Amino acid sequence: MAAEVKNAVRRIGVLTSGGDAPGMNAAVRAVVRAAIYRGIDVVGIRRGWSGLINGDVFHMTTADVAHIINRGGTILYTARSDEFRTVEGRKLAYRTCKLLGLDGIVAIGGDGTFAGALALAREHPISVVGIPGTIDNDIGCSHYCIGYDTAANTAIECIDRIRDTMQSHERCSVIEVMGHRAGNLALYVGIATGATAVLVPEEPWDFDEDVAEKIRAARLAGRTNFMVVVAEGAKRKADGSLDNEVVGGGSAGQQVADMIRSELGLDPRVTVLGHIQRGGAPSARDRVTATRMGYFAVEALANGKTNRVIVHQHGGITDIDMEEGLKMQNTLNEDEKTVLKSMTGAV
Ligand code: F6P
Repeated sequence: MAAEVKNAVRRIGVLTSGGDAPGMNAAVRAVVRAAIYRGIDVVGIRRGWSGLINGDVFHMTTADVAHIINRGGTILYTARSDEFRTVEGRKLAYRTCKLLGLDGIVAIGGDGTFAGALALAREHPISVVGIPGTIDNDIGCSHYCIGYDTAANTAIECIDRIRDTMQSHERCSVIEVMGHRAGNLALYVGIATGATAVLVPEEPWDFDEDVAEKIRAARLAGRTNFMVVVAEGAKRKADGSLDNEVVGGGSAGQQVADMIRSELGLDPRVTVLGHIQRGGAPSARDRVTATRMGYFAVEALANGKTNRVIVHQHGGITDIDMEEGLKMQNTLNEDEKTVLKSMTGAV
């Protein structure tokens, strides 16, 4: 039943772009249902911005989003589009908007998704609103991104399982979590699992200071098993305390394990959690946050707003200027850093 209200837009598109995240489907569902509730047409755009360029679209009804709130992934598929980075590519995308009579687009993804949306809106008369969705939780303007809670709980469940066998064998485990440029997930998961040490991309690590000393302290305290959580983008300090031949190639986690083996005489096991963290049924927090953000995105477009990002700030959800939002840098949570320092520093 459509509400009797005036809308600034008649027909909107919705797409997902970049790395997928659990909860994206809940956001897509909320956009469709909130739009239909307001009497606004919705067009699903498959495969991110490339779907707009190629006209890979379909009209969406509530039937298309039935039973997806609890599903990971995205029914709209996702893709990264180099063509859309060009003016010509965006012209083709806008041609599709014009043919379809699209007044607005809701783009669910990360910073790159929003930058593309902003470029399109600057070059063509189309309103755009972004919804932050990435398990890295590394969008500076929003304190929370869809998918983060689910990914963290997935990683925590995996690490709890690894802890059991590490305790049985009295071993050291190195667990690599996602986070190419951002250590938010590693830091949060490291606290939640009581890690011996946590290594993040934002702070290049020194083996002695950031790993060896913490393992030695744990040993002195009688511990016989150790867990090091490493973000996939974590790097050694350039002036690392050991020659490069000690650190082989391989993943960030493997590099740390190689040093632990050669310097501490332990026999570590490496687990790279990888894309397990990107799937699975979204948590309650992700379902509700995604639904709220999808609703707010439609409200923003319906009320004539454009170039906005729906963000989680100070415990609530609001919309901010997209250009301003893109200028905000992601930083690690200082409180969590302080807590981790205390938790891993105790002897
Ligand atoms: O952006 C989220 C993310 O999962 C990163 O943590 C990870 O490095 C990247 O996507 C992996 O991208 P892809 O799925 O294209 O390999």
